[in-house]
Amino acid sequence: MSRIESLLTSMTLSEKLGQLTMTACGHAVTGPTIAGDSTAAIKSGAIGNLLNLVGAADVHDMQKLAVEQSRLGIPLLIGYDVIHGHRTVFPIPLGEAGLFDPEAWTATAREAAKEAAADGLALTFAPMLDVSRDPRWGRSAEGPGEDPWLGMRIAAAKVRGFQGDDLSKADALAACAKHYCAYGAVTAGREYASVDISERTVLEVYLPPFASAVHAGVASVMPAFTDLAGVPMTADAAMLQGRLRGALGFDGVIISDYNAIAELINHGVAADRPAAAALALKAGVDIDMMADAYRHGLPIALERGLVTIHDIDNSVRRVLALKERLGLFDDPYRRGARAEDGAQVQKRRQLSREIGARSIVMLKNAGGVLPLQSRVKRLALLGPLADASAEMRGPWWGAAGADGQVTVLEGLRAAFPTAQIAHAMGVPIAADDVSGMSAALQCCDGAEVLILCVGEAATMSGEAASRAHLGLPGVQRSMCELVLARARQLKIAVIVVLFSGRPLVVPWLIEAADAVLAAWFPGSEAGNAIGDLISGRSSPSGRTAMSWPRAAGQVPIFFGQRPSGRPASASDHFTSKYLDVANDPLIPFGFGLTYGNFEIDNLRVTPQTVSRSGSIEARVDVANRGDREAEETVFLFTHDVLASVARPLLELKAFGKIRLAPGVRGTVILRFAAAELSFLGLDLAPVFEPGEVEILVGPCADRSRLLKAVVQLS
Ligand code: BGC
Repeated sequence: MSRIESLLTSMTLSEKLGQLTMTACGHAVTGPTIAGDSTAAIKSGAIGNLLNLVGAADVHDMQKLAVEQSRLGIPLLIGYDVIHGHRTVFPIPLGEAGLFDPEAWTATAREAAKEAAADGLALTFAPMLDVSRDPRWGRSAEGPGEDPWLGMRIAAAKVRGFQGDDLSKADALAACAKHYCAYGAVTAGREYASVDISERTVLEVYLPPFASAVHAGVASVMPAFTDLAGVPMTADAAMLQGRLRGALGFDGVIISDYNAIAELINHGVAADRPAAAALALKAGVDIDMMADAYRHGLPIALERGLVTIHDIDNSVRRVLALKERLGLFDDPYRRGARAEDGAQVQKRRQLSREIGARSIVMLKNAGGVLPLQSRVKRLALLGPLADASAEMRGPWWGAAGADGQVTVLEGLRAAFPTAQIAHAMGVPIAADDVSGMSAALQCCDGAEVLILCVGEAATMSGEAASRAHLGLPGVQRSMCELVLARARQLKIAVIVVLFSGRPLVVPWLIEAADAVLAAWFPGSEAGNAIGDLISGRSSPSGRTAMSWPRAAGQVPIFFGQRPSGRPASASDHFTSKYLDVANDPLIPFGFGLTYGNFEIDNLRVTPQTVSRSGSIEARVDVANRGDREAEETVFLFTHDVLASVARPLLELKAFGKIRLAPGVRGTVILRFAAAELSFLGLDLAPVFEPGEVEILVGPCADRSRLLKAVVQLS
């Protein structure tokens, strides 16, 4: 008999439910319940999994209680939110999405896994794969941005990075794809609100990244807090048992979100905890995180006949199988057995600096004001984010300390060692305190250039951080306006470094500044990454993975919209448009300037006619007409012009990159399988329909900047 089956035969009901229970252990509790002392419960086998415990010594102490003092000695599974780094923080996921580089996505997850595993952890609640087309939603910061196809690529890369090639290795973490599914479509961008979208949109937009994670072998999945048309995901048997386990073939562990099983009562679908526990278990949720509904509710649900011991055993089997795959039975102390050496940590910081710089999107660079000449002697550095170590981490900072980040001030001092830097905070990020304004204005006098660091605090995005106003918080706008006016009087250039976990609505700022860097939250080496770009040590190459609206009233806003029966026309009143703002975003998906000056031309697409089993290849020539080496990203979109179901005006199918020295020309080749042009037909089953498909290639999702060719599907 296998280890798992023989354990199952000897487990009491309480021990079984212990394996289906996950409890927080003191650190970084994110939900409403703070866990007390779980020592006795671990020893009795009533708690089999923990979250929010870090540090190899603490983890091993707890593990010892389970392995050496519980009756069956089953090791604990210990998880943590390692979202974009652990002790070393990489850019927030939305920023990192804009690298369009699967190897880099994998590399940061691999490094985060090594660092977290060295801290004793075996599970991360990542990657977060919720497509988001609504910047009001704070969790946009944690995910892949607005496009499902991009989300699929990121999902596969991240699962590979976290899990490595063998889950039992000492540096591998079990990944958890979350939050399944469609959480990004919460009503009005309001956190935890209901989701009510079509089945087609669920399948076409929100599900694909999860399908990709399952395909890549993700070990666990977390259902979203939210409901879909009245059925909370935590109790959605059709989505969990049907689609996830059935159609997608997921055979790993489903872990509830924090207290989500108890919240089924608030959703109005369960009368009490036993009923909630029964709904979740029947839907396929294996582990109850923080609700204690399985531990205390399932025995009653069993008595009421709502669940069977068979249902419980199936979940226990899956949890034990994951522990086995992680090698926890063979050696529960493998992770965290050896501390990392200084060189490894240093290398990781270096990677964070490189990826940080590559995640930053240059939105504007009028007159080539950037990069600054190294002979610049007097800089003024202003704003509440100029010297703000803790903020640089962004939301979900893992186990990174508040003081461990390089600030912009420190980074610029290192990048311009001979320059004088006058620094003032001016105003706080969110409070209405203007007492520092005059000091900020004084700093401008005598400066050759002014750098304004403004934006959101780290905690203004991430969980429970929806915003209805997408401008600068607090009185930052007033400070910017005063400083911009002073700079105009003094005829000095203003560079804005904008920090945020989402696209902001700041057209006035982008208009008034000479240069704008959208830095998101770059992580541990933020200041050095920004210093590298401002000084020209590296050229910006980041692209935005979400559209930036002109006005909050445009959201949700995304490039993959369907055509209208009355497409916008300036000369026809009764067409699809606003009276007071243009339809298009201020900054389209994929946009990002570099220090090069790229021209993309000569699109060639082969073959001209292709069947479902074939593949399509597009080539474009790219020339760098600028005077600096830089990297250009080229996107390939498709548009199926005539189909049984109207297709989006643009669908992303490929991207490629090329690094070119000044004056040099090269070719980017983009390939994809023709089968990717299948779509869900009238009955929601995949179809490949013959006909014309436009292939559109260019630097971002702005149709007017895309080259076009046509292929025939046969
Ligand atoms: C979040 C999850 C997270 C969990 C554990 C919840 O509040 O929604 O994303 O993994 O807490 O910290």
